[in-house]
Amino acid sequence: MLSRPLVAYISAAALQNNLAVARRHAGSAKVMAVVKANAYGHGLARVAAALWAADGFAVVTLQEAATLRELGWDKPIMLLEGMFEAADLALCQVLAVTPVIHHAAQIDMLAQDTSGAAVSVFLKLNSGMNRLGFVPAEFPAALARLQHLPNVGDITLMSHFATADDATGVVDQQLCIEQAFSGLNYPQSLANSAALLRYRGTRADWVRPGIMLYGASPFADQSAAQLGLQPAMTLCSRIIAVQTLQPGDAIGYGRTYVAQQPMRVGVVACGYADGYPRHAPTGTPLRVQGQRTQLLGRVSMDMLYADLTPLPQAGVGSPVVLWGEGLPVEEVATAASTINYELLCARAHRVPVNDQPETVLP
Ligand SMILES: Cc1ncc(COP(=O)(O)O)c(C=O)c1O
Repeated sequence: MLSRPLVAYISAAALQNNLAVARRHAGSAKVMAVVKANAYGHGLARVAAALWAADGFAVVTLQEAATLRELGWDKPIMLLEGMFEAADLALCQVLAVTPVIHHAAQIDMLAQDTSGAAVSVFLKLNSGMNRLGFVPAEFPAALARLQHLPNVGDITLMSHFATADDATGVVDQQLCIEQAFSGLNYPQSLANSAALLRYRGTRADWVRPGIMLYGASPFADQSAAQLGLQPAMTLCSRIIAVQTLQPGDAIGYGRTYVAQQPMRVGVVACGYADGYPRHAPTGTPLRVQGQRTQLLGRVSMDMLYADLTPLPQAGVGSPVVLWGEGLPVEEVATAASTINYELLCARAHRVPVNDQPETVLP
């Protein structure tokens, strides 16, 4: 049986290069590689194997944590949203997972636990993002409660930046963090990719890079290549049909693109059910046979259209890169008014992942 030609190639070498970049920026800080959301769409087991030299992995679900333990990972696992209910605490203990404690009900769960098993925790400060964490006024009491619980092992203080990737930077939040953590003799974890890459003062004891490990830039004004990063995912497909249009002919749902002159259009096996953004407009970049061209018309569920005007030699079977090697995912994201994170995470389950061959370009 011939398989559908759409594949997400994952480069272990790129992941390792990107971890090395993170380490260079981290100095002596330990690296907690963020592998939530199925490793940002790249496949948890595959990424974990490539990033085995990391010092810890950060996840959101206990299933992800269990998978890592089944794979033989015996270093720290950070549970970014902590326990959702008391039963999760027992699993944290069994799996030796370190939950983030960010609201009082989670401390209640620890206080009510009679198992006698210890659990190490991250205690989160809300330093201005207003997503998770104790506000500065509540932080000392939360810490004091944890300090008095016999089942709480090591405590690491943490916070998260809202604007490390843009011109606002981290100054305000850093000030808040310095004040809240002042005089507290615990390890700290603050930096995401953007903070790690731009603000040395945020490195602390554990850094938490995510997007940069996948070879994508957290910044609008600096490319992944400029940061020394290599794309870990290259989404590849092929042309499965070619249409020849005459002036006035339209393509796709809504007939949104109308040919102005005779032209050839390639139908590519990739659509929004694969995770390609439906709202990507005409003009979004694509690579066909290693050459840049553009998307035309509306993306449909399983297919999209490639302009073959600059590619007279292309036809059925010609390889297409949707993003990755030779076409930064940021460019596609910008054209589609979204961010690289969303495109990578959206890879659909039906799109198989595979090891990247030496090169994916023809
Ligand atoms: C708490 C926390 N730390 C670190 C990260 C990694 O961020 P990035 O992918 O921007 O490096 C995330 C991702 O959302 C996060 O929620």
